[in-house]
Amino acid sequence: MHTAPLDARSVAPLLVTPVAGDAALDTLLSWINADPNRTQRLLLEHGALLFRGFSIPDPDSFERVSRAIAPDLKNDYLGTSPRDAVTPYVFTASELPGHYPIPQHCEMTFVKTPPEHLFFCCLTPNGGAGGETPLADFRKVYADLDPAVRDRWAERGVRIVRNYGGPEGHGKRDPTQLKRWDEMFGTTDRALVEQKAAANGFTPRWRDDGRLQLTSVQAAVRAHPVTGQPVWFNHANVFHPSAPAGEYGYIAARMGAWPWRFWQLAAWTLARYHRWTRDPEDAAMHVTFGDGAAIPASDLDAIRAAIWKNMVFTQWQAGDVMAIDNRSVAHGRMPYAGPRLVAVSWA
Ligand SMILES: [Fe+2]
Repeated sequence: MHTAPLDARSVAPLLVTPVAGDAALDTLLSWINADPNRTQRLLLEHGALLFRGFSIPDPDSFERVSRAIAPDLKNDYLGTSPRDAVTPYVFTASELPGHYPIPQHCEMTFVKTPPEHLFFCCLTPNGGAGGETPLADFRKVYADLDPAVRDRWAERGVRIVRNYGGPEGHGKRDPTQLKRWDEMFGTTDRALVEQKAAANGFTPRWRDDGRLQLTSVQAAVRAHPVTGQPVWFNHANVFHPSAPAGEYGYIAARMGAWPWRFWQLAAWTLARYHRWTRDPEDAAMHVTFGDGAAIPASDLDAIRAAIWKNMVFTQWQAGDVMAIDNRSVAHGRMPYAGPRLVAVSWA
């Protein structure tokens, strides 16, 4: 195999491509299986591996590559994106509309046991601008953040607030509402929901109108469980009210102004409107410091700047598989138009 960093500015991801045009899936699987420690070592060092140029045309082939690296795939998902199952262990990465940007995040930082590894596979590229799944090395984001900001966050932690509509359709008119609690927990049984919530450290609160609020308090920075390196490990830049307008600003600068400036203005106006018309604790997503105090917008600006400085982009090619050490490297999604099918699995 040829191996080389995809982008000289970042250790993540390491690009792995076939030699002498041998693109067979079995060749890749044999290379992984021949020395499993090598793959784990490379993942620890680089944080992500991009397998490109191999014959990985369908969800089953993708699942075989995922399992070669992490045999024990999971299929419980308590995150915010709507996802559809393609096989029992392969899902669409996100059913959110293409114009929604997904800010950088390590997967499910707010659950008790976040995934160790995450895999993406491009089954259909969108074929135009955008639609990348950029990565950012969150070890580097931690290192680049102003020590005054990151130390304050490390000390105070974060409190994640999520509000979900229920099976009766409550919350449907809110454009920021992502999915229903019965979809997320796979049941309409409230006692079972409470059990699953408790197992993940979420405090559930049933609302009079059938909605469910989940709150969880967690550290903002974690040590990588194997290497001990400090990693920026929270969803604040995704859940803060400043997120949509802040992201569209960077997106407009990268992709050309139109239509992203329009969305930036729309997101900014909506955030302003919500600020005067509703309790932020009622929003689909919200975040505060661990003690419940508001986070200054300037902190979020500093965090977004550190993240965008470290983002690495590549246009998806059909059959690409990205293997990510979720404990050190974050991912997101650039907005796009057109067809696009990117699958995900995790362990
Ligand atoms: Fe994600």
